[in-house]
Amino acid sequence: MCGIIGISSNKPVSANIINSLKKLEYRGYDSAGIATLSDGEINEVKSEGRVDNLENNFDLKNLRGNIGIGHVRWATHGVPNSLNAHPHSSSNVSVVHNGIIENSTILKNHLINKGHNFKSQTDTEVIVHLITEHLKTSKLEEAITKTLNQLHGSFALGIVFKDMPDLIVGARRGSPLAVGYGPNENYLGSDSYALKSMTNKITYLDDGEFCIVKKDQVIFFNENGKKVNKKILELSSDEASYDKGDFKHFMAKEIEEQPTTIKTGIKEYIDSVNKEINIFNFPWKIKDINSITLIGCGTAYHSCLMAKYWFEELTNLDINIDIASEFRYRKNRFKKDSLYVFVSQSGETADTYAALDICNKNSMKTCAVVNVIESSIARDSNFVLPIHCGPEIGVASTKAFLGQILVLYMLALKIGSLRNEIEKNKYQEKIKELKALPGLIEKTLLYDNDIQAISNTFNEAKGSMFLGRGYSYPIALEGALKLKELSYIHAEGYPAGEMKHGPLALIEEGMPVVVLAPRDKYYKKTISNMQEVIARGAKVLLITSKSKGEVISENIWETIEVENTNDDLLPFLLTIPLQKLAYYSALKKGYDIDKPRNLAKSVTVE
Ligand code: AGP
Repeated sequence: MCGIIGISSNKPVSANIINSLKKLEYRGYDSAGIATLSDGEINEVKSEGRVDNLENNFDLKNLRGNIGIGHVRWATHGVPNSLNAHPHSSSNVSVVHNGIIENSTILKNHLINKGHNFKSQTDTEVIVHLITEHLKTSKLEEAITKTLNQLHGSFALGIVFKDMPDLIVGARRGSPLAVGYGPNENYLGSDSYALKSMTNKITYLDDGEFCIVKKDQVIFFNENGKKVNKKILELSSDEASYDKGDFKHFMAKEIEEQPTTIKTGIKEYIDSVNKEINIFNFPWKIKDINSITLIGCGTAYHSCLMAKYWFEELTNLDINIDIASEFRYRKNRFKKDSLYVFVSQSGETADTYAALDICNKNSMKTCAVVNVIESSIARDSNFVLPIHCGPEIGVASTKAFLGQILVLYMLALKIGSLRNEIEKNKYQEKIKELKALPGLIEKTLLYDNDIQAISNTFNEAKGSMFLGRGYSYPIALEGALKLKELSYIHAEGYPAGEMKHGPLALIEEGMPVVVLAPRDKYYKKTISNMQEVIARGAKVLLITSKSKGEVISENIWETIEVENTNDDLLPFLLTIPLQKLAYYSALKKGYDIDKPRNLAKSVTVE
């Protein structure tokens, strides 16, 4: 939820730190700060709001020092203001932190009793004074080890020391942290994205490890303070993905990229010569898997729900799904013949990572469906299925959602085929239809103008409903989430058949209701539900698939018809208008589309 950067160099660092912080703002943007070391002093500057505020409020060009740390914050403890912004410093130590220190109150009282003065409301400040206290009696590595052992909870840390002006300490437990290697300088960052403009040579710290970063040397230690050797990875440069190009927002670009990203995903997994889905190196025998549990958060959870329908239909396996923050505290019964699938765009979501950790500790089969293959969830799963969407910068997930459900659909098809639940010719036909999907998405993206006009009605309403049955129900949830997180309007996704059990009471004259009713096997039932809301005054936006001539019904406010395809693939097409509806609604309101309020791209705290 926060972004960390540190640079140890043979030249001034403030400009590069600021540039990296701007790349990290997708992780949090309540406040920002930077601390450099020069002439035996800690130079700390920080302010509420975006990194631009920091630049406007301080003369950063003259912020001297060849070593420094920076931070963009998503508040967990303490309101977003300059006092609670990171870095937090004592007389000789300065710290930036991503995570939550769960025993901060106890430690704070202990340190106050030792004479330490606290300025902020944050948990992070405890770390500063704890290290300061240990440095009175211990050398650096020992002081760090003692401090980390006393902290409960999660952290990624960057720490500088007034009396050691040639090094930065980094430490990781539960929140991602990477080291980057440059010419006559080395870096510390929350993820590779923050470091990519300076280097593609990266080392990821594992939980419990810490490191000492100098301009010409990096040393890694395990949780016992013993030196360890770590691999240096060379990451592919996909700088193009980090540029909006001609688009006004990353989200707009990422919506329009979907034909390409779906085509890439299909190419990665489907062998067009043999018309076969290749899940390379699948480490388990299909006969050893009799149930699958899919776990995720937010949009990734909607992907799990979508997959549940496909897996049930295509594999005849027992399929369970769960929201990661629920799963991690549930009394789970683990079965050896279960496969646990963790869906996460960032691969760093704390709740999903915690759920994975529980499954690993119970020796379960674990598979990650992620967009960031160097991420913690990917690294700690037995098997990884990348979605190949390229970096998704917009906080609201669009191309990654379609990428997730594509990979999950192909996995369901493959497992169904291996379990002989799908006849060979049916399997081949589905693969053929799947390969036509990018073209259908392309066509669906063209319904632009209608949606811009429609979005005004949603903006004027006090709330809206998104209804769907069967395959359309997960898409109704996803569409409602998009509208909520982008335009801050209440929107509720609901199973169409459930409206009569209570929520119908919400419907009043002029209330906008999206009804997802493609001409699949649920069509007639959903149209009946649609009539129920129209009869009570709702303004229905019907999203269906191209009609074969029959008129659906009068009294519908607006209709959008997506291309026809096999029922399995209609959810991909239904999603597109809903992404655009949320986008245009937020655009009309003038909200920050790529960084909506209170949110962050990767929720690395619970
Ligand atoms: C999606 O639009 C949201 N930004 C959010 O729900 C997101 O899907 C969720 O936080 C999970 O993130 P992940 O896929 O990186 O794990």
